[in-house]
Amino acid sequence: MEGALTARDRVGIQDFVLLDETTEAAFLSNLNKRFSKDLIYTYIGTLLVSVNPYKELDVYNNKQMDLYMGVNFFELPPHIYALADNAYHTMLAEFNNHFILISGESGAGKTEASKKILQYYAVSCPSTALLNTVRDKMLMSNPVLEAFGNAKTLKNDNSSRFGKYMDIQFDSEGEAVGGHILNYLLEKSRVVHQNHGERNFHIFYQLVQGGEEDLLHQLGLERDCQHYNYLTQGECAIVASINDKDEWKTVKNALQVVNIDEINTNHLFGIVASVLHLGNVQFDSDSKGHALMNNNPELRWLLGVDAHTLQEGLTYRKIEAQKDQVLSPFTIDHAIYARDALAKAMYGQTFTWLVNRINESMENKVRRRTVIGLLDIYGFEVFYVNSFEQFCINYCNEKLQQLFIQLTLKSEQEEYEAEDIEWEPVQFFNNKIICDLVEEKHRGIISILDEECLRPGDATDLTFLERLEDKMGNHPHFVTHKLADKMTRKTLERGDFRLLHYAGEVTYCVVGFLDKNNDLLYRNIKDLMCQSKNAIVRECFSTMDPDNRRRPETVATQFKSSLLKLTEILMAKERFPYQDEALIRHQVKYLGLMEHLRVRRAGFAYRRKYEDFLKRYKPLCPATWPHWRGVPADGVEVLIQHLGYLPNEYKMGRTKIFIRHPRTLYATEDAYERCKHELATRLQAKYKGYKAKGEFRKQKEAATKIETCWRGVQARKEREKRAWAVKVIKQFIKGYMTRGQAKITDNSEYLAFVRQNYLNRLKDNLPKTVLDKTTWLSPPSVLTEKSTGNSHNKTCCMRPDRHVVFLYRSIFLAPSPQLQMKLITSSLFKGKKDSYPQSVAQPFVDSRININPRALQMIRNEHIKYGVPVVKYNRNGFKPRPRQLILTQAAAYVIDEAKIKQRVLYAFLKGISVSNLTDGMVVFHITCEDPKQKGDLVMQCDHLFEFLTKLGVIANKQNVIKVVQGSIKIEIQAGKESAVDFGTGQEPMVYKAKNGHLMVVS
Ligand SMILES: Nc1ncnc2c1ncn2[C@@H]1O[C@H](COP(=O)(O)OP(=O)(O)O)[C@@H](O)[C@H]1O
Ligand SMILES: [Mg+2]
Repeated sequence: MEGALTARDRVGIQDFVLLDETTEAAFLSNLNKRFSKDLIYTYIGTLLVSVNPYKELDVYNNKQMDLYMGVNFFELPPHIYALADNAYHTMLAEFNNHFILISGESGAGKTEASKKILQYYAVSCPSTALLNTVRDKMLMSNPVLEAFGNAKTLKNDNSSRFGKYMDIQFDSEGEAVGGHILNYLLEKSRVVHQNHGERNFHIFYQLVQGGEEDLLHQLGLERDCQHYNYLTQGECAIVASINDKDEWKTVKNALQVVNIDEINTNHLFGIVASVLHLGNVQFDSDSKGHALMNNNPELRWLLGVDAHTLQEGLTYRKIEAQKDQVLSPFTIDHAIYARDALAKAMYGQTFTWLVNRINESMENKVRRRTVIGLLDIYGFEVFYVNSFEQFCINYCNEKLQQLFIQLTLKSEQEEYEAEDIEWEPVQFFNNKIICDLVEEKHRGIISILDEECLRPGDATDLTFLERLEDKMGNHPHFVTHKLADKMTRKTLERGDFRLLHYAGEVTYCVVGFLDKNNDLLYRNIKDLMCQSKNAIVRECFSTMDPDNRRRPETVATQFKSSLLKLTEILMAKERFPYQDEALIRHQVKYLGLMEHLRVRRAGFAYRRKYEDFLKRYKPLCPATWPHWRGVPADGVEVLIQHLGYLPNEYKMGRTKIFIRHPRTLYATEDAYERCKHELATRLQAKYKGYKAKGEFRKQKEAATKIETCWRGVQARKEREKRAWAVKVIKQFIKGYMTRGQAKITDNSEYLAFVRQNYLNRLKDNLPKTVLDKTTWLSPPSVLTEKSTGNSHNKTCCMRPDRHVVFLYRSIFLAPSPQLQMKLITSSLFKGKKDSYPQSVAQPFVDSRININPRALQMIRNEHIKYGVPVVKYNRNGFKPRPRQLILTQAAAYVIDEAKIKQRVLYAFLKGISVSNLTDGMVVFHITCEDPKQKGDLVMQCDHLFEFLTKLGVIANKQNVIKVVQGSIKIEIQAGKESAVDFGTGQEPMVYKAKNGHLMVVS
């Protein structure tokens, strides 16, 4: 219903229960509106109404089946699959039996609907290889039974001429494990007679049109329907809409699937052919007017009986007079009657045999099971001339309608009782009165017909009619020519009686009623057939009436009892009704749909379990949103009070709320729709806020983490610095304390410091003239003592003698190259690069490598100034390679053993970068316009300061040496950039980072 509610504005209303008025006009208009958009299904509560589209609709594919599997009945648009699925799941959940009742006029689509249900189960139910065969048999029983039991009528090209009730048996897992079919009253008269525009059963035409040459030859048949009397009476043996040839193939295949073996198949077609041959049997009369049979060898052969007995059977009647048997000859008419009776009996019995065989093949003996019954019975029929068959068919529909009303009313009433809601009686037409008219013991039409059939004397169809008139004289649903008023009389023949069925008036012609009801087959023919060589014929006739003496029950009585049995079967099951509409006309009324709707709407249009109602509408009331903590019923009460329901608009049952008018519900539903949008917006806003908050929290966490790390790094650095300071101070103090001793490692730095200090002071306080000996700054005592080791030296320092001049000159005027270099290093790196302080004490050397003679040979023209081992990081993937770096006056060479790998002319060396950390990494930035150059050079050198100072001096490049904080950008090749990133860590590492940069950790 929820689905119906939301979809109500689209095309009509999906559930008639929600229609605002319960008038027929409103009902039809809704049905029409939907039908015009190919929406053939509509609900009345749990009843499904369908209108025959007479065209293929794309709503029966596997996708649709999937859609409806296991879905709540009311969630999706109405569909036959929803009904089938609901029955199936209720059966599984409650472990009880159900049936689906399909009613509607002939041609309304009942048989199609039953097939669709079966197909749905075939696809949707779980299955195994074994069960697949059961499933196939169930599906394939249809083409077989339709070939033998369906025929073209004026209403329907594929009209079922028998009633069918099929049980589909499921095990507790919901697997279809078997099936069983009950068949009802096959319209046998069709075998020998068809009205104009109608055909015999399909199988005859299929055999003649589609049968293989061999087979036809074997059966003595000709491929021409016109050749057979039994096929031509309706004058429409061939119709464009029916493809008998194709059907023949389908049927032959289906026969195999339902386990009818080749021998039986041959017998079966033998019987079909025999019936055709029988129809062509002619009788001549002899001089006394007795019938003589013409010779028909094929028939004899097919039936497997001898010529004489067959002739005797069809032209004589055997009368038993005391112990003697007398043969009484037939007139031609009588013989024709006997012939037709044989044809009908043979065909009818064979049909029953076929159903039994199919049942055997589908039988399930093993597992526990529940069933879903599918009732597809012939629909209500009104022809121009209606006979005994229509009488039976319409009676059957009358019975089903009664069952239907009873069940509908019953279930509705039961629900009201269960919910403690006062039952408000509904006016509806109960057709019990018509059922009684037909079936009541001793007084009903069937009883009177039977009496006439059994009564000794000259009972005829007309005496039967008179008896009816006597007994039914003033029944409101019974009329004959004699009983009718003047106006009605004009519409009735003298041999007619008219019944006012629930579905409308039908006039029946009494001609043939007695014969058809008796369905007499003469004893000698029956005996004859029991000797047939055709096994099926033999089996059918020998089981026909086991008690030979008793008169068999009449057809109508048999039918009545089988219907009663059916009613009992159905009453014991839960129902899922389905109704069909052939044409959208007054049939809505005939089908009792308005009755159903009124019953359904008698008090309350809508009912829902408290839980469900609350679950859907709780956002509408602040007290119930988002959770109602109490009993659902109380929640609903609070909710509807909030919504302002008036007391007469609803009732509270035990487990459900009942709402009287659809409009109340619509108002609630509309409010719900609006609220849903608002809620969605609110939820969206909340969600966005929630997300933003999460993001903020994450960022804050990250910031804290970074901060902590950074502090850690700083603290570690600080600690290192302090440790270093402690060491230096300690050394200084130790040096101070041992200053007077001989020069050892402990005091050498201290002495160097004192010396430097003194010299620095001296630099600023030099005597103005060389000759001035008095103003010399006196050196610290440690220096004097140590430098000479005797007192004389004190004077040496004090006086500008040769030594002093040398000292002066060597330190200030022309410092040693070593010191000069160190000064340059200091100016370049002091306070800039962390590893500088450690380097101060290390003396520079001229070269640190032995150059391979061959390499030497190659650069022999240039004077080699310096060489140092380096690790070069190549430009593809920064792989480390040990190399020698040689500086000449004009260029730097990168050498691998004896090979010159690269020559960097100082002219193209536009920059030299190092980091501010303790690593030994150096980058040569090389002007890339020079196509011979390969891009920037990245190297690591253990003697960085020495190397760079020398380079700076040799190449005059001091001004391009940069100490960089952070990353050094490098050009791998013209236009392609990367970088060297620097960091500190536990241990030094150099590797290619994920971002493609070279990472240097020191
Ligand atoms: N759902 C449907 N979709 C398309 N055609 C249908 C449908 N139901 C019935 N028909 C058509 O109507 C014809 C008669 O249907 P059928 O089920 O044989 O009627 P019934 O059994 O009620 O007499 C079918 O042969 C088919 O052509
Ligand atoms: Mg049918």
